[in-house]
Amino acid sequence: MAKKKVLKFKLWIKLLVFFIILGVVGYFVGNHYYQEYLYKQSNEYKLLELGYSDDEVKLFLNKLNDEQEGNLIGRGYNEFYPFFIRCNYFIYDYLDLYMERVITKEKDFFKYHGTENYDYNKIISIVNSHANEEPYKTDRMSDISKGYALIANKHYQLGDYAPDDLVQVEWKYRYGLQNDKYLLRKEVNDAYVEMWEAAYNEQGIYLLLLSGYRSKAEQQGEYDYYKKVKGEAYADSVAARPGWSEHQTGMAIDIYSKADYKAETFDQSPTFKWLSENSYKYGFILRYTKGNEEITGYKYESWHYRYVGKELAAKVVESGLTYDEYYAYYLDN
Ligand code: DAL
Ligand code: ZN
Repeated sequence: MAKKKVLKFKLWIKLLVFFIILGVVGYFVGNHYYQEYLYKQSNEYKLLELGYSDDEVKLFLNKLNDEQEGNLIGRGYNEFYPFFIRCNYFIYDYLDLYMERVITKEKDFFKYHGTENYDYNKIISIVNSHANEEPYKTDRMSDISKGYALIANKHYQLGDYAPDDLVQVEWKYRYGLQNDKYLLRKEVNDAYVEMWEAAYNEQGIYLLLLSGYRSKAEQQGEYDYYKKVKGEAYADSVAARPGWSEHQTGMAIDIYSKADYKAETFDQSPTFKWLSENSYKYGFILRYTKGNEEITGYKYESWHYRYVGKELAAKVVESGLTYDEYYAYYLDN
């Protein structure tokens, strides 16, 4: 009887050990398959499966949010995507527009030089700032609520907007006769005067404001003059059409100095040098910069400055971007 009991007990122990081992092994094997199952559901796995490299997938996971990763997976493999996503100012919502540019405007480059050697930032700049669109063909309005940061260019129009805080610029600070009308928004005038004093005190530079606020009607006169004398294409490269000029905001200034007043050579003058180094401190940025005609829509203008406020001007200068690109990436949302 006692012997039978001992035997039964031993069997129990064996069974217990057996089931414990089975449980432990089962847990580890199951967990392994479960983890594998989970990984196969992950964006990382799906992107690798599509054919992207480890580095490319790392880039996607770093730069995109979950929804964008899902969208990218749905699109299937595309050899161009990593090149765009790698760019500093890549905006996911514009991916199709970047690709459109690859397929249309730049197709010859890719045909002859492959995908590696292209500067993708160029497409990003153009598309972000809407310069891929035909000029003056949009009904996109300038966002007046952005205040001193608002943008006006060939893709954002002002319509009939007129600022309500224009003040007369004092004779001392401008070109022309004493009773001429030179208007700027109040804060812009104050900043201009502050900059004027600094230029004069630091370097004896006597700045002259040549043009400030221009109403829509005045801009019409400006544009028509160039069109009549040199034709429409030229006019469009140097003057905005009425309703689309920064001068209509009362925040743009054309400046020379008593010593340096020739447009063609202004960018080699001491006045320009001083402005290049200092204008941002007073809230002004050079607006139509050299080499960026395709983005800004206008020929280089070394005399046209735009008030955006001191803080923003410093950031724009620091970024090295045109204001069109800066606005698109940082302010347009
Ligand atoms: N000259 C600049 C582009 C204007 O007309 O507003
Ligand atoms: Zn101007």
